[in-house]
Amino acid sequence: MKKLVKSFLYVLILTMPTMVHAQNETPIYKNPSYSVDERVKDLMSRMTIEEKIGQMTQINITMINNSDNQKDVSLNPDKASAMLKKWHVGSFLNGEAVPAQQWFTYMNELTQLAMNESRLQIPIIYGIDHMHGASYMGNAVLFPQGISIGGSFNPELAYQEGKITVLESADVGHHWIFAPVLDLGRTPLWPRFWETYGEDPFLVSKMGEAFVRGIQEPHKEIAPYKVAATAKHFLGYSDPYSGWDRSPVDLSMQTIQEFHRPSFQAAIDAGIKTLMVNSGEINGVPVHASKELLTDLLRNQMGFTGIVVTDWADIEKLFNYHRVAHDWKEATKMAIDAGVDMSMTPTNFRFNEVLLELVKEGSITEARIDTSVERILRIKFELGLFEHPYPSDKRLNRVGSVEHQALALKAANESLVLLKNEQSVLPLKSAEIKHLVLAGPSVRSKSNLNGGWTLKWQGGEKNEDFPTWVKTVEEGFKAEYPNAKIEVFETLGEAKSKERKAFEKAAKNADAVIYVGGEKPYTEFVGNITDLRLDKVQLDEIKLASSINPKTVLVLVEGRPRLITDIVGDVKAIIFAGLPGYFGADAIAQTISGTNVPNGKLSFSYPFYPNHHVQYNHKPSSVYFFKAEEANFIQQGEKSTSLFPFGYGLSYTQFEYSNLALSASSLHRDGTITATVTVKNTGSVTGKESVLWYLTDYVGKITRPVRMLKHFEKIELKPGEEKTVSFTILPDKDLSYPDASGNKVLENGEFRIRVGKLESKFNLN
Ligand code: BGC
Repeated sequence: MKKLVKSFLYVLILTMPTMVHAQNETPIYKNPSYSVDERVKDLMSRMTIEEKIGQMTQINITMINNSDNQKDVSLNPDKASAMLKKWHVGSFLNGEAVPAQQWFTYMNELTQLAMNESRLQIPIIYGIDHMHGASYMGNAVLFPQGISIGGSFNPELAYQEGKITVLESADVGHHWIFAPVLDLGRTPLWPRFWETYGEDPFLVSKMGEAFVRGIQEPHKEIAPYKVAATAKHFLGYSDPYSGWDRSPVDLSMQTIQEFHRPSFQAAIDAGIKTLMVNSGEINGVPVHASKELLTDLLRNQMGFTGIVVTDWADIEKLFNYHRVAHDWKEATKMAIDAGVDMSMTPTNFRFNEVLLELVKEGSITEARIDTSVERILRIKFELGLFEHPYPSDKRLNRVGSVEHQALALKAANESLVLLKNEQSVLPLKSAEIKHLVLAGPSVRSKSNLNGGWTLKWQGGEKNEDFPTWVKTVEEGFKAEYPNAKIEVFETLGEAKSKERKAFEKAAKNADAVIYVGGEKPYTEFVGNITDLRLDKVQLDEIKLASSINPKTVLVLVEGRPRLITDIVGDVKAIIFAGLPGYFGADAIAQTISGTNVPNGKLSFSYPFYPNHHVQYNHKPSSVYFFKAEEANFIQQGEKSTSLFPFGYGLSYTQFEYSNLALSASSLHRDGTITATVTVKNTGSVTGKESVLWYLTDYVGKITRPVRMLKHFEKIELKPGEEKTVSFTILPDKDLSYPDASGNKVLENGEFRIRVGKLESKFNLN
C-alpha cells in the first residue's frame, strides 16, 4: 500500500507541470519562461502537417499586394487573408524602397492579418534584400557595396554597416536581412562581383563575420527586436567558367574547402541564423539538389544549425532550368532530401501542394518536415517574434540620421583606392584650385555611385529617387571647392562638334580634369557582359582629356574591374572608387582635395589582360615565363599578371616597413611564433595603413598558393611616427590547409612570411 501511494505521488509530481499549464491555459509555446526547445516542441505538437508546410514557405509580396509592381507596397487584405488562411504562409519577402512610415503601416497590417488567420498565432518572418544598408527603405543611409567595403580592410566599418541597417529597418518589422554575400570575387566578369568583399577568403571572412555581428547582436537601440542575417549564396557561386550569373561552376572539393568554405564557416562560427543556397550548379549538381553540400558539408562538417532557404524559385529551376528533375514533385523531393528548409517559392503554391502529396504518400517523412519546421520556429522564438510580432513607428525619425550619414561617409572615404599618382598630381588642394572640369558619364549620376540593390533591384534610376542629401559628384565637388569654377561635361561629343570644342577649351584652361567613368548599375544576370574592357567611348574620352590637360585624373565608378590597360599610361592619377554608396561623391571630392588621405587597398587583383587573369593567391602557374616588365605597376618585385595586385593602394604619405623579426626560427605544432614589424610614416601627412601579413607553405603535398593573407591590421600614423605591429602565428589556424574532405593538413617544413616588401622564414617541426 505504502509503495502504491509512493508511486502515485511520483506520477503526480512528474505530471504536475503539464497539469498546471493545462489549468491556466497558457500553452507552453506562448510562455517565454520556458526554453526555446520546450516551446518549439510544444508548438510542433499542436500543428497540422499543412501548417508545418506553411512554415516552410516564403512568398513574394506581389502575391498579396494591390498590384504586381514591387514598388507598390500596399496590402490587399482580402488576397492576403485568403492566402494566409489557405496556405498558412510563414514568411514573406521583398518590396522596394518606400518611406519608413509606409513600411510600418504595411507590416503592421500584414502582421495583424497573419496573427488573426494563424490558428496558433504563429508570427510571420519577413525577409528583405537590405544589401548595403537598409536599401529598400526610403531615406535610409546606404554604405559602400561589398567590393568597396572590402577595400577598407576595416571590419569595424562592416560591423557598423550591419548595425545601421538594423537600426534603420528592424522597427518596421524587417527581421531577416538577406545579406551578407560571402561569395568570393574571383571572376571579374561575374555580374555579382561587386556584392562580394573581394577575392580573398580571409578578408571576406573577417568582413562578413563583422557584418553578421552588426546585424544579429542584440542592440539596445532596436530592443525588443532582433534580426537574423543570411550567409549567401552557399557556395562556390562566384566562379563560373563562362563568367556569367547562374552558370555552371566546376570546382574541386579541395578548392571548395580551402577557398570557398572559410567565409561561410566564419559566419557560422559567429552564429549566423540563416543561409541562402547558390542558384547555380557545382560539378554537374545544382546546389539546391546537393546533399553532399547542403547536408554533409554544411550541417555535418560545418556545424550549421539554422535555416536553409532556397534562392528565388530555385526548386522549380531543378526541372525547368537545370533539368535534373522531370517535374515539381521530383524537384521538391530532391531539394528537401538535399537539406532545404524553406522554399522562396515565391509566386505560386505548387511547392506546398506537392510537398503535402509527398508526405501523404510516404516519400518524405513527417519527421523530415519536423526537422525543418523546428529550425524555422526556433529562430522565430530566438528573435522574440512570438512576444513582439508587431512593428513600431516610435523611432523612425532616426532613419537617415546625421550620425548614420557620418559613418557612411567614413566608410566611403576608407574604401577609395588610389591606384596611381604620378608626380604627386594629387591632392588638388581646394585653396589652390580655381578651375576644374568634371567629365564622364558618372559626374551627375547618383545611381552609378550606388549600383544595384539600391532602392530597387536594378538600382535607382533617377537622381530624384534618392534622398535629397545624397550628392552627385558635381555637387560633391561644389561643396569641396566652393571657390572654384566647375564645368561639367557628361559626354565629350563627336570630334569637331560644338560640345567637343567647348570641352577642349575648358580642359585646356582648367587646373585639372576629373574624368568619372566606369559602369552603370546592374544586378544579377542583367549585368552579364562579354568584354571586360571599359567601353571604347570612355577610353577615347579619357585619352582625349589627358592629351589636352596633363593633370587628368581618372575616377573609376564600377562594380568590377573594367580593363583600362590601354590608357593607364596616359593619365597621371587613378582612383578606384568602386561603388562607394550614398557618400561616394563626397568621398571622391574629399580624396581628390586631400581632406581625406586615401587609405583603401584593392580587395581583388585588377586584371591587365582581357584573356588572362589569376588571383594573387594562385597556385604556381606559368607566370614564370611572363615578361614582368610588360606590366607597369607590378609591386613587390613579384611576377604577376595583374595591372594592380590585390592589397595595392597608395596614400598621400609613405610608409616604410623595417625590422621584420620572428620570436623564434622554428616552432612545434602546439607552439606559436610572433612576428613583428615596424611601420613608419615617412611622409608629411597623417595617414592610415593596412598592414597585410601573408604566409606561404613552401612545400605541400597538395600544391600550395604562392601566398595567402592570414592577418591584417589598420593603423594610423602621424608624420614621423612609427609603430610596431605583430602577428602571432597559430599552427592549427594559420599553417594548416584542408584536404578535399575538410581534414586539416599540417605539414612540417619551411614556411615564409611576408609583410610589405619584407620576407622571412621559419620551420614547423
Ligand atoms: C538573388 C538573391 C536575393 C533573392 C531575393 C535572388 O535572385 O540571387 O541574392 O536575396 O533574389 O530577392
